[in-house]
Formats: sequence, C-alpha cells, structure tokens
Amino acid sequence: MNFARSDFPQDFLFAAATSSYQIEGHGFGGAGPTHWDSFSATPGNVVRAENGQRACDHYHRWEEDLDLMQAMGLDAYRFSTSWARVMPEGRGAVNAEGLDFYDRLVDGLLERSLKPMVTLYHWELPSALSDCGGWANPDIAHWLADFATVVMERIGDRVYSAAPINEPWCVAWLSHFLGLQAPGLRDIRATAHAMHHVLTAHGRSVQAMRALGVRNIGAVCNFEDVHPAQDTPAAHKAADRYRAIYNEFFVGGLFKGAYPDAVLEGLEAHMPKGWDTDFSLIGQPLDWFGVNYYTCKRIAADSGPWPAVREIEGPLPKTQMGWEIKPDGLETILTWLQRNYTGALPVYITENGMAHGDDPGVPDAPRIAYLDAHLTAAKRAMNAGVPLAGYTFWSLLDNYEWSLGYEKRFGLVHVDFDNLKRTPKASYYALQQGLSR
Ligand code: FCB
Repeated sequence: MNFARSDFPQDFLFAAATSSYQIEGHGFGGAGPTHWDSFSATPGNVVRAENGQRACDHYHRWEEDLDLMQAMGLDAYRFSTSWARVMPEGRGAVNAEGLDFYDRLVDGLLERSLKPMVTLYHWELPSALSDCGGWANPDIAHWLADFATVVMERIGDRVYSAAPINEPWCVAWLSHFLGLQAPGLRDIRATAHAMHHVLTAHGRSVQAMRALGVRNIGAVCNFEDVHPAQDTPAAHKAADRYRAIYNEFFVGGLFKGAYPDAVLEGLEAHMPKGWDTDFSLIGQPLDWFGVNYYTCKRIAADSGPWPAVREIEGPLPKTQMGWEIKPDGLETILTWLQRNYTGALPVYITENGMAHGDDPGVPDAPRIAYLDAHLTAAKRAMNAGVPLAGYTFWSLLDNYEWSLGYEKRFGLVHVDFDNLKRTPKASYYALQQGLSR
C-alpha cells in the first residue's frame, strides 16, 4: 500500500465506522423493536430474511473491537446510537441498560485514545414511531430532538463530534420511494414528507444538542458521482434530475435554504404544508460536514412518470456490491461541495470502503487497492483546496449489510458469523502499516 499517514497533515484523523443495528445485536440488552425487524421479517425484503438480532454481537464483544481499532493505530471511531436501545418505545421511558452501554463505550474509546464520533440515527427507527408514520410524521423532528437530549445528557460531555442523522437520501428516498430499505414504502407523498422531515429533525436535534453545550456538531450525507449514460439531451437531463435528488436536495436545504427546482418539479405537489418556511430551522450553523462516498452512476432517461431515470451498468471494475470503482469521483464530489456548499467548513470523509468476497483463498488485495486509490483522490482534493480533516473507513467489521444480509463483506476485520470470531484481513494490516509511517 502506498498510503502513509505522514502524507497527511498532523491533525488529520483516521477512523473506522460502524452502525448500531449492523453490529451490536439488537436482541440483547432490552432494546425495543425497530422497523428493520419487521421489514426483514417480511418475505422478499432481505436476503434470507436475515436481521440484526445477533449481528456481530458487538454488544458483548465491544472491548475486543475497540482493542482492534487501537492496535490498528486509528485516531477515532464513528459509531451510532440505537434509538430503540435507549428508548424502546421511541418516546418516554429510557432503558437504563442501553444508555449505560453507550456510556461504557465512550469511556472505553477514551481509555484507548480513540475519539468518539457519534451519529444519533443510523436507520433503526423504533417500531412504535414507525406505527405513527415515522419519517412522514412532522413530529419526528421533536421525537429525534428528545432522543438527542437523552443521549447527549449522558455522553455529550465526552464525544469528539456528533451528527444527528446518517445519509438523509437513504432515510427518505431509498426507503420511501424505492422501497429498498425499511419501512419499504413506494409512495411519493411519504417520500416528499420524509425528505423534508429528515432535515427538520436534523435542525431540531442540532438545536437540542447546542442547548446542552455539545460541541463539534455536523451532518453526514452520501453522494454519487453521476454521469449521463449516453451523450444525448435526454440522458443529460435525466442525469441532472438524478443528481438533484441524490446529491443536491439535502445540501440545498442545509447550506442554501432552498431545494433544487429539478426536485420540486416532481415533489412540490406532495410536500408537507409550510415546508418553505422551515429553512432557518434546517440551516443551523454546523462545525463540519461529512461525506459518504462509494461509487458512480450512469443515468439514462426512462419512460413513465417523474423522475423518469434509469441506471445503466457502467464499464469499470465492480465491487461485491456490483458498484463501479471510481476513485476520482471522490475528488469530484469533494471539490464540487467545497465550491458550491461547504466553503471553508472542515469536511470529513465519514464513509468509504468496498465489499469483497469471503473466499479464504482470495487475498484482500482489491480492498487495499480501493482504499489506496481513494486516499490518493482525497489527497488530490486537499491539494485543490478542500479543507479535509479526516478519513473514515467503512467498515471496521463485516456486518449486517441491510437488505443484502450478511454476505456483503465491508470489514477490515473478518467476522465468522457462525462463531463470531474476528480475524483482521490483509487490508487491516496494510492500513496499520500505513498509519505507522
Ligand atoms: C452506507 C451506509 C452503511 C453501509 C454502507 C455500505 O450507505 O451508511 O450503513 O450500509 O453504505
């Protein structure tokens, strides 16, 4: 691996990321049911109907997992707090055991000189809130802010950074329009409401955390490097529309106080009442911005109603997810964001990594090459003036890859899902070496 820590500024942070439902084992410790438990129990939604009830059993093995990060030489750990673990009904009663878990986790990180970077919501909505309409209900902004208060009253004095929500596009579009994640809806009105409420919930949670004195608060969005599949006006228009939905809607709300016209042309008729008066709430000042980047997309025009876009398979080598590997897309996204939205705000890459198969005879070389190429692209973006402050590998462990179950392996550490044994992969050791240089 070419990567060396010394090629980056001294205070640049290297981290690994996970999320609660994907690793903890939701069946343990008094956590309440979530919409991922019911989504996965519904035939056809998740490969082999797998769920996060046991996952990596991080709930009991967290010390071993923290030791692995410390031994790798990382500076920080990006994890999330499960809403239903802390508040099994989503509102009201607190599960003391759940809150204790995150308290111990934060102390365990600090003892190992790892900075805790917390995301409050990484997708497992308590079922009781889902029953009330979940992200389509405007009250979710208050529900999430109350959860933020409960969590941060306990750990807010010791976390390095905090973000309310992971990847608004997945929370809203992927889950309510494409129906590919919980709650699995395909409804344009629910989508429009969720797209907006995910941002009002962000805003109220930032306010709640600021009121408690929590420092270093940001937002985390995901981006794809979007290209027209053909050089035709129709494909260009379709790609622009796809890009507006995926890349521009949420940063439009957060940084510009406006949603792109190319999205409103389809969603405006379905938006919640008074949406256009919420931008001062949504645009709370932030201390940093997080970018999750994995791949690019080739988009063609489709027949049928708005948004009339279709993905076309691209020519580049692909990961186990079938995602094209396009490292310069990371540079494109970072420089585009800096010029148009984030300016002087520090930016973190909050997720980047690849799924690669589990065949023991296959070395981990593709993942090493993927990480090397993306770190180099990040460096190029820094040279072009992007104030990049850190890079986070997705993921520390092989884990529950949502609707694709356990077979897509993103980990730097292999997990045997029969006996839960952890085994660092070649990419773990390559990064360990790079971090020591
Ligand atoms: C991101 C999610 C993360 C994981 C990776 C592969 O969209 O934030 O939980 O599923 O993709």
